[in-house]
Amino acid sequence: MVGVIRGTGACLPETIVDNEDLAGIMDTSDEWIRERTGIARRRLIREETTVSMAVRAAERALEDAGVGAEEIDLILVSTVSSNTVLPSTACAVQEQIGADSAVCFDLNAACTGFLFGLSTAQTYIYAGAAKHVLVIGAESLSGLVNWEDRSTAILFGDGAGAVVLCAREGDFPPLVMHSDGGRGRVLTCGSPFEGAGGYPAQSPGSSAAKDREGARAPFIRMDGQEIFRFAVRQVPGCIEELLEKCGRSLEEIDLFLLHQANARIVEGIARRLRADPAKFPMNLAEYGNTSSASIPILLDELNRGGRLREGMRLVLAGFGAGLSWGAAYLEWQKERS
Ligand code: ACO
Repeated sequence: MVGVIRGTGACLPETIVDNEDLAGIMDTSDEWIRERTGIARRRLIREETTVSMAVRAAERALEDAGVGAEEIDLILVSTVSSNTVLPSTACAVQEQIGADSAVCFDLNAACTGFLFGLSTAQTYIYAGAAKHVLVIGAESLSGLVNWEDRSTAILFGDGAGAVVLCAREGDFPPLVMHSDGGRGRVLTCGSPFEGAGGYPAQSPGSSAAKDREGARAPFIRMDGQEIFRFAVRQVPGCIEELLEKCGRSLEEIDLFLLHQANARIVEGIARRLRADPAKFPMNLAEYGNTSSASIPILLDELNRGGRLREGMRLVLAGFGAGLSWGAAYLEWQKERS
């Protein structure tokens, strides 16, 4: 069995923050941000939360697929910015959409998270353990950004995207997933207790207040140039590995939907592959880097914008913290035959 995407959905916060707004609170400029990243504005949560955006994206994807919440057997949410450590965002989504039969869990693979969610969903479907699966990427990275650090704060936006996968007869789909923990230090976000050496060991009678000395808000830290190099070097090889696996040539692919981290990264990957840059749609000018939500948000825009025709050949590719990266091949078959 194989999972086919039957519906897509997205939810973006109402509040728009453009580059000029950021230039008003930190030493940066619209020109610098556009030139180095391709980002013009981003959406940031105010009333919304990671859970509320995940719920809305899921509802839209279900509606688009014509699948009822009660038919969903599995909800996977990729997030590093859940409202709470416990319970998971996936369980909160289950409760709010009424997917009472679903098994639910979150996974953390940063900006590659949607690809890991997709591959996990396909594995459940192939094993016969699920027929209808919701895969969601939902992030509020604005809460994990140090707004005094101009090198990271300008990059990120909040949002959620979702797909509904339905099982039908077929082989396991072509997927390539990779991780390299040895290079994890180039992109990190600590726990609140990072400065105190990690989560404090609590023993009976110990003073919780004392144990929490040194605690502070966790922030995303990165070596931007190293991540840039990693993405532009690693992702083309991963896409070539995927194409070899599925016996397709680069020219046969209609669209490459890449994680929306930076326009220069996407363009650099297209150049290395010697692929037509017009096949690499981007929306990061509007939303910035929404981490694991970026690919499903882009997919939803293309779907609702009528840009995906039946039978189109798509490659999805993600990359990010871990380090982690991966790619998936799919043929767009949204309509039930
Ligand atoms: N505004 C103005 N100047 C800035 C800003 C800013 N927001 N940020 C940094 N600068 C300055 C630096 O201080 C530096 O000044 P200096 O030359 O006087 O020292 C100068 O601009 C150049 O800085 P670099 O870091 O060399 O700039 P670079 O061209 O590498 O661009 C960027 C930085 C945009 C972060 C780039 O490296 C990048 O996009 N890397 C990928 C990072 C990424 O995508 N991370 C997202 C998370 S991971 C993921 O999603 C895969």
